[in-house]
Amino acid sequence: MSSTPARRRTAILVSGRGSNMTALLDAASDPDYPAEIALVLSNRPGAPALDKAEAAGIATATIDHRGKGGRQAFEELLQGELEAHGIELVCLAGFMRLLTPWFVEQWTDRLINIHPALLPSFKGLDTHARALAEGCKIHGATVHFVRAEMDAGPIIAQGAVAVADDDTEASLAARVLAVEHEIYPRALALVASGAFSIEGMRVARTDRGNAEIPALIVPSV
Ligand code: GRF
Repeated sequence: MSSTPARRRTAILVSGRGSNMTALLDAASDPDYPAEIALVLSNRPGAPALDKAEAAGIATATIDHRGKGGRQAFEELLQGELEAHGIELVCLAGFMRLLTPWFVEQWTDRLINIHPALLPSFKGLDTHARALAEGCKIHGATVHFVRAEMDAGPIIAQGAVAVADDDTEASLAARVLAVEHEIYPRALALVASGAFSIEGMRVARTDRGNAEIPALIVPSV
């Protein structure tokens, strides 16, 4: 008799519109997907992502970071909420709070983030405008394990787009966002399946031949 492996209980942390969250919810609506989304948590009351998660029947929580007496006090509440829901993996999806080393260390190799650039280029904000200003011909998005340093950590998946001569910040952002929605569910599937190893900054699949390569989407030019 074969038994279906348990799906990893996953939380998505959001602050805003939640389009990456929606991509993860859609993927996890397949019972064969190795993660189930057990909680969507926002630090911003009224974030549009919360309504979308509720409409999808997902448990939600809000912990307003304001007035909590500092970053670690906020994170202790966050940690308590994650533990109360039995969360095993955490996805940051447009979560606009820097996390302290204390929190990051609670979740080593179980906390992942999506960043709208091909790391290690363009850490931080305004990535699309900066890629255009630098004349990049290739731009994209990265899913990575979170480490204490901002926008750094072992890379799980990347997707690239070609930069067009007439691209604006908005047009480039839209194409990169479409790529984000493809790579984030693939990256979470890999992490939730456990079929990977991490050595330094390198993440390798341990089930090669068993699955498509999740890590790269190449533009056609
Ligand atoms: C995305 O571009 C993501 O890469 C960045 O914040 C944005 C969130 O968008 N970290 P959404 O809320 O997922 O639509």
